[in-house]
Amino acid sequence: MKRTAFGMAIALAALALPTIAQSRPAAKHTPWWTHAVIYEIYPRSFQDSNGDGVGDLNGVTQRLDYLKGLGVDAIWLTPFYPSPNYDFGYDVANYTGVAPEYGTMADWDHLVAEARKRGIRVLVDFVLNHSSAEHPWFQESRSSRTNPKRDWYVWHDPAPDGGPPTNWQSIFGGSAWTLDQTTGQYYYHIFLPQQPDLNWRNPGLRQAMHDVMRFWLRHGASGFRLDATPYLLEDTKWPMDPDPKAGPEVGLKPYNSGLPGNHPIMRGLRAIVDKFPGDRVLLGESNIASIGDLAKVYGAHQDEINLPMDFLYSGVHKLDAGVFKARIDDAETKLHGAPPVLFFSNHDSSRQKTRFGDGVHDDRIARLTAAMTLTLRGTALVYYGEELGMTDLPKDALKTVPLGPTRKVADNRDPERTPMQWTGEAKAGFTTGEPWLPANPAGVTANVQSEQADPASLYHWYSTLIAMRRTNAALREGDYVPLDSGNPEVLAFARRDKTGHGVLVLLNMSDAQQSARITGWPGQTPTATRPLLASPAVDAANLANPVLKPYAVQILGFGRP
Ligand code: GLC
Repeated sequence: MKRTAFGMAIALAALALPTIAQSRPAAKHTPWWTHAVIYEIYPRSFQDSNGDGVGDLNGVTQRLDYLKGLGVDAIWLTPFYPSPNYDFGYDVANYTGVAPEYGTMADWDHLVAEARKRGIRVLVDFVLNHSSAEHPWFQESRSSRTNPKRDWYVWHDPAPDGGPPTNWQSIFGGSAWTLDQTTGQYYYHIFLPQQPDLNWRNPGLRQAMHDVMRFWLRHGASGFRLDATPYLLEDTKWPMDPDPKAGPEVGLKPYNSGLPGNHPIMRGLRAIVDKFPGDRVLLGESNIASIGDLAKVYGAHQDEINLPMDFLYSGVHKLDAGVFKARIDDAETKLHGAPPVLFFSNHDSSRQKTRFGDGVHDDRIARLTAAMTLTLRGTALVYYGEELGMTDLPKDALKTVPLGPTRKVADNRDPERTPMQWTGEAKAGFTTGEPWLPANPAGVTANVQSEQADPASLYHWYSTLIAMRRTNAALREGDYVPLDSGNPEVLAFARRDKTGHGVLVLLNMSDAQQSARITGWPGQTPTATRPLLASPAVDAANLANPVLKPYAVQILGFGRP
């Protein structure tokens, strides 16, 4: 039976992917992004094509067939703009260029064209809250108080004692203000001093940023991942904070994030992408503190960010069926039906195998977290290498790596940014040169080459789940049906298509065997069922009273035979 389950898995994975044009349904138009898998690529670490130890755009192009095989709908590339790299590209020195280490605009155009041929869309990371201090706009702005671009950034006189205007903290630590000697004023930066905040209240700045968006849309971008969206505006009453380091996040204070003026700004950005054909999209890095705040990020008329990332789901750090059920049910009931955007790992946070693994059942746990994200309604983000079970590089391993021209600064997020593991070799097939960050030795076993050859690998688990999302109507566009598992360790939910057929998902979030009693079906309890995919494999499925091994996943089909 084990073989049968995997046999079906592989048959599904082998189905040809539709091209972008074919994937559009004829009748009611459902934009592609409402149920997409968007794969995040950190270009610096994905594939080096020229042996300089830094990944590049041509490297991504070389690996498009891999991405097509995995089945992703789109890729989001983190910044590849010219940058002094204090924050690896999130400090942008030119919004309409490609840094030489990543290639050229011609390489970008080629990448987009090749991706399109394979039915894959490409999203650009748009860093809109701040630029690099080396951006010519800031160079002008800081040159004098009367420079026409002075107001493109956020300047303030010192406090009466000569110190910073407020006691606000930067998300990266220290004061959010830096004194600029030339003009004797402070500039504001919610991130590094090398990342001065842009002033979105200034119409000239807004216009310039809109032009940046149009530039990339004309160059074939299918949309943008919007960086750090909550922080665009500050409270210009500049209140003092009685306890500036308190709260869940320094970056989610009422004076530095989520100001009402963000909404018209976002509507402005949305209007731009909507003017371009082909369902272009805004994917937002929209940190929030509550589901109510997340609902607002979509816009009162769903006319702002199409896909705000759900940081409440990704913020769960322990496997807990009750906590996940609450977060998922919230996203289903309090976002006005908009697609939730689910993810765990990215270039800012630990890889999910490291985060959730218990050292004993890591492989099963990796399958479980993947199955949850990929069977739920909405859009799923997959960080490169998660499909292989890549893990964080232990911090100690980085201590001995010298800084140099390719890695001028050490970053506490380096562990999750190691080279993609293409092969089990020392440099992981990532480069022929010296990789800018060492490859993770765990790549000896967790790599594309060995996992593609092994039908029971995590890679095939991911590609099967992604293929199921695409081909199974309930998983693709069906409703979410919350269920009661009768056991606090077991998460149970179903997805159901318009005809009532669907998929039941059972996840045991504990290290012990669990039995469950599934109730809560709206209407009649479905009876007939069959295993679609399971980890570990199961011989037969019991829909009403399943028994689940530690960290087991069971995905069962009901209805249509
Ligand atoms: C976002 C990015 C992060 C970056 C920060 C400042 O949070 O994801 O990597 O450091 O913005 O741009």
